[in-house]
Amino acid sequence: MMRASAPGKAILFGEHAVVYGQPALAIPLTQVQATAAIQPGGNEFWIEAPDVRRRYTLAEAAPDDALAAAVRLTCARAGEAAPPPAVLSLASRIPIASGLGSGAAACTAVVRATAQLLGCPLDDSDVSAIVFETEKMLHGTPSGIDNTVVAFGLPVYFVRGQPPVPLRAALSFQLLIGDTGVASPTKAAVADVRAAWQKDPQRYQKIFQAVGDLAREARNIIEGRGNRPAAFLGELMNRNHALLRELDVSSPELENLVTAARAAGALGAKLSGAGRGGSMLALVTPASEAAVRKALEQAGAQRVMGTTITP
Ligand code: MEV
Repeated sequence: MMRASAPGKAILFGEHAVVYGQPALAIPLTQVQATAAIQPGGNEFWIEAPDVRRRYTLAEAAPDDALAAAVRLTCARAGEAAPPPAVLSLASRIPIASGLGSGAAACTAVVRATAQLLGCPLDDSDVSAIVFETEKMLHGTPSGIDNTVVAFGLPVYFVRGQPPVPLRAALSFQLLIGDTGVASPTKAAVADVRAAWQKDPQRYQKIFQAVGDLAREARNIIEGRGNRPAAFLGELMNRNHALLRELDVSSPELENLVTAARAAGALGAKLSGAGRGGSMLALVTPASEAAVRKALEQAGAQRVMGTTITP
């Protein structure tokens, strides 16, 4: 039995603008994982995803099926025309369309397990490159940040088309991630931002640039440079959220959670990922964590996860 897992992810700063060449910061979320297990045998290659009640053979997979594409692309990378007969089972604890990288994590786990099946060693950048191809199928015009942070499993400073730079925290930062429970496919939000940018490129370019400036400033604070206090990261999150609202990717549910987190003492809060639904993040301290968690739950968060960025 071959088995491989991959974490979810959260974008700290820079979503959407990263598609247009601005930097973004993202972290892996190891408490939610996708796991692919492959049992060789039988006379077909089966793909099973019991969580979403799906079972089909590789031969009958739809042309835009990302899991089948992950298997086929891994075979091509290994110089094989097709995988040997087997059953591939995918299990994921990452809510789908929640801004937490469920698609990239599922495909990363599938690529790694398939590579084991084929005896083809792949490094993280090979895996990331294959998953990027599947992200194009899922998301249209992805920046590559999701496959990068998930395949490398490291906090990253990411610029589209460039090798990822590890984000090296100088201090600990405590975050809460609240899920609105509203599924929001990344593809639609990214396509809407693109259409709006095409209509008014000057206005949108300015917003993207302002988001990029926030991501650069946030990186400096996280890595311990400059003269801003660590708590200023919260202010930068609030500013990034305001710009994401200008991009029209917030939603009433996200606004509820962001407002509740701030009112309960979070240092800052913003939506995270493609928006329109999905998840938000709040920067908290050990003193405010419990109150912010409670406020998020009372404001309707379907789940609240904590994570800490550490040196
Ligand atoms: C999705 O996790 C992040 C977006 O910026 C899209 C992308 O970068 O591909 C919204």
